[in-house]
Amino acid sequence: MKNTLIAPSVLAADFANLQREIEMINASQADWFHIDIMDGVFVPNISFGMPVLEAIAKHAKKPLDVHLMIVDPDRYIKTFADLGANNLTVHYEACTHLHRTLQAIKAEGMKAGVALNPHTSVSVLEDVIQDIDLVCLMSVNPGFGGQSFIEHTYKKIRQLKEMIVKTGASTLIEIDGGVNSKNATPLVEAGADVLVAGNFVFRAENPTQTIIDLKQIVAT
Ligand code: DX5
Ligand code: ZN
Repeated sequence: MKNTLIAPSVLAADFANLQREIEMINASQADWFHIDIMDGVFVPNISFGMPVLEAIAKHAKKPLDVHLMIVDPDRYIKTFADLGANNLTVHYEACTHLHRTLQAIKAEGMKAGVALNPHTSVSVLEDVIQDIDLVCLMSVNPGFGGQSFIEHTYKKIRQLKEMIVKTGASTLIEIDGGVNSKNATPLVEAGADVLVAGNFVFRAENPTQTIIDLKQIVAT
């Protein structure tokens, strides 16, 4: 059976009780910590930066899946590696020399991810797919948690899956934005390997149980 990964997005956590939130994820069935870094330029919001990531990394006992929503991400590849990022995802729309950026991420010992905005066709990755460990399909416009899932994403997942199978690449497909217990099954059926969930997990009455439920849904 395929093991679909669940990556709670820390953006939706209670920042005043961050250590408690991290320990909750540590003790849960979640697979990764999804960490959203926003610069207020690439997206119309500023989330948090290096000092907060450093604090998270100190307590986190699961891989750190860092999603950079920043312009010119090459400037900070080494910084994020030193802070303990396991996956580093850059936006296709923010990179002039994507191939070079991917090599630089891997040279620092991290898995290389590429995120696509909702308007960006998966076809732009055709010539670089074999170099990508993870494609993050944005199923909302990046910048904020708690937005509604964009249905067109299903078509993109199927197209991307076909590209991955055809080229023999081992790229994982991650879905980010508006994920919940209702769309989890169709997302996995379409080809998703990793589901990011922010508000659905952290704003739930019982986040630990919500993660158990999500894991169970995607396993059946
Ligand atoms: C959006 C972020 C997402 C966000 C997901 O720009 O990249 O990771 O935190 O949050 P929800 O699951 O609430 O849509
Ligand atoms: Zn994200």
